[in-house]
Amino acid sequence: GLAGLLLVLQHHQVDGQAVPAKSYSNFTVLRVSPATQEQVTGLLSLDGRPGVDWWTPPRVGAPADVMVSPEARDAVLQQMNSLGLQWEVLHSDLQQHNGVVDRELAAAQLAGRVAADAYIDNKRYFLYDEIEDYIKRVAENHPNRVKVHDIGRTFEGRRMLVVHVSNCPYCNYTAIWVDAGIHAREWIAPATALFALSQLAENETAHADMREQLDWYILVVANPDGYQFTHTTDRMWRKTRSTTSMPGCYGADPNRNFDFHWNEVGASKNPCSETFAGRNAFSEIEAKNIRTFLWDNRLKIKLYISYHSYGNFILYPWGYTAENPKDWQTLKSVAMKANEAMVRAGSEPYTIGSSTQTLYAAAGGSDDWAKGFAGIPLSYTIELPGYKFGFQLPTSYIDAVARQSFEGLRAFASEVKRLR
Ligand code: ARG
Ligand code: ZN
Repeated sequence: GLAGLLLVLQHHQVDGQAVPAKSYSNFTVLRVSPATQEQVTGLLSLDGRPGVDWWTPPRVGAPADVMVSPEARDAVLQQMNSLGLQWEVLHSDLQQHNGVVDRELAAAQLAGRVAADAYIDNKRYFLYDEIEDYIKRVAENHPNRVKVHDIGRTFEGRRMLVVHVSNCPYCNYTAIWVDAGIHAREWIAPATALFALSQLAENETAHADMREQLDWYILVVANPDGYQFTHTTDRMWRKTRSTTSMPGCYGADPNRNFDFHWNEVGASKNPCSETFAGRNAFSEIEAKNIRTFLWDNRLKIKLYISYHSYGNFILYPWGYTAENPKDWQTLKSVAMKANEAMVRAGSEPYTIGSSTQTLYAAAGGSDDWAKGFAGIPLSYTIELPGYKFGFQLPTSYIDAVARQSFEGLRAFASEVKRLR
């Protein structure tokens, strides 16, 4: 009847909204490999110009990807030419690539809600409310090993839920924290954390040892407002969605917003920048909610992991200085165990090193804060693979990345037990 018709119409509207509205028509993504510091500096001089977004920043001897608007293209190509650099075109029209993702998403939307009911099948990227529903359901279904901690609301009022999985959720074991999606567009990260959660919570027998004498705290989506925004409006959104002092510019980079050497390096005071550090440290409620939970549990959490994408890196502190932490050899050898396990599971190898030395200097990261301020001894940022797709990793890759990463977590867990 009429009610049914209205439901159908509403549903179509939901699906309509799920198609990102911002067009990336004729945006290109280029990959360059600078060989000298001079070339790196020359490339970096393009940073901050409208229409230039370094997805992975230039470093000597490594490939770097940059997204370029049609208006900025001439200037960028000219600069690359004059630096004697050649480039590979990863996408000549990002909107077409976006289109593929949109269609995948829209089709899955119709089929998906049922699949999510049963288990996480790694066949698509879930919406935030679906992830929230799944978390509530898994807690109901497995009360003896799953507890949910509501750590507060986001800027737009979404709930942030940390899922606690253990063979004994009241035993107060040594703990491992895993978060993902602090940067909104890095979709493979929440998908990977969600799979880990589903395996730990729902697989009765296969991973029982991982729950034994260990508490897992998993925050599947650390930046829910941004994540939702990448599904509805702008696939390439990175930051939170808070208002700023600049009309028309929204959000801060939550991974520049933690209060440990805040805003010292690799961050911006400009609210329109992709790496805006925020009005002040912990100006972003999402970062603040995470801080409070980590701080309250700092004595039991021995390992902090933050999933990002992309580039195959296991990064340990510091991001604020090129110096190494005193115990960097332990950090490195534990990361090597995780890498070995992932490679055994079929992954491309990960590059291991300190954030500053391996990637770039950037202060105010959650990993630095976890180690430097909260005193959590092992702290890592894991940049998952993007292959040639970058942030828009096709859904057909989710299963392999999630499973390989889960083997990494298994190795991390046994290292935590061994070092305890
Ligand atoms: N790609 C990540 C970012 O830009 C790397 C973070 C590494 N950690 C750090 N504290 N800088 O946020
Ligand atoms: Zn990131």
